[in-house]
Amino acid sequence: MRGTTGLWGRAAALATVARAGRPPYPVRMPRILVTRPIPEAGLALLFPRVTVDMSPGPLSPAEIARRADGCSGILCQLTDSIGPDILEVPGLRVVATMSAGTNHIDLAAAKRRDIVVTNTPGCLTEATAELAFALILAAARRLGEAERFLRAGRFRGWDPMLLQGQTLVGKRLGILGAGRIGQEVARMARGFRMDVVYHSRSAEPEFEKECGARAVTREELASTADVVSVHVPLTPETRHAVDAAFLARMKPTAVLVNTSRGPVVDEAALVDALRHKRIFAAGLDVFEDEPAVHPGLMERENAVLLPHIGSATFETRNRMAVMAAENLLAVLEGRPPGNPVLH
Ligand code: DGY
Repeated sequence: MRGTTGLWGRAAALATVARAGRPPYPVRMPRILVTRPIPEAGLALLFPRVTVDMSPGPLSPAEIARRADGCSGILCQLTDSIGPDILEVPGLRVVATMSAGTNHIDLAAAKRRDIVVTNTPGCLTEATAELAFALILAAARRLGEAERFLRAGRFRGWDPMLLQGQTLVGKRLGILGAGRIGQEVARMARGFRMDVVYHSRSAEPEFEKECGARAVTREELASTADVVSVHVPLTPETRHAVDAAFLARMKPTAVLVNTSRGPVVDEAALVDALRHKRIFAAGLDVFEDEPAVHPGLMERENAVLLPHIGSATFETRNRMAVMAAENLLAVLEGRPPGNPVLH
């Protein structure tokens, strides 16, 4: 992968410039594994200060364990399953994930091995909330279906009965999990004059004041919201939080959107609800078994499906790469990292 052009070339050139002025004798830098290419802004921080082994593409857990041998740090992604085998690599001190979610890392095993784990919360709030809102609009107004209709050459002119969807203005938004992203979606919903209810682990009085939001039970949220937007992290308690019973409570005109983690929604139950029109539509950016998508979802016109792009804006991915690199360097250089999950 190393060359004079492309990501490696540009990052290596930056590193050369950054190294100029360093002592002329060899300095032994810690080695780190970057499990797949990341934005240049992050690499530019790493190159002058650590020896980087960057994989050109995704690695299996066994490959990560093999390539991490001799590394003090791993900069990983949510697609990397970081289990005990990897965490037992001798000399490993830090796992810095370029994600807010940490469900792909065995935190208990990391704690046992005294390995610092860091993540990148906060910087992806707006991008993910924007995507959630895009999905809310797309699902409510049947945008995917309408575009497929037009591209298939079926548009014969304006039709009073064509592709009617659900109005959002004045309707009720139910936020499941009022963390940073859930709250940001609610802020955006105010522009649509939506009434906001939420269900969360803790009460959020500031949020209630700012957005006029009201805390409700899961049951009330499911049965009264016109749009349910899911923002809980994946934990054993939240797996299938949206299950057949939750879906059965939802209004037949309601829309479900998930931009958190796929397994929070029982996909088979959702397919059933969509197939029998028990809810109006769903917008999903995440899936139970990514990159696989339930075949029943693929065939549903009333499902808008995206390839996990919640944080995929140039600005956000650059910030995530910088944060992950800064966290990793802080640990290796003996400073407290900005975003410890465990330390
Ligand atoms: C995260 O960081 O957890 C997001 O899912 C990435 O888009």
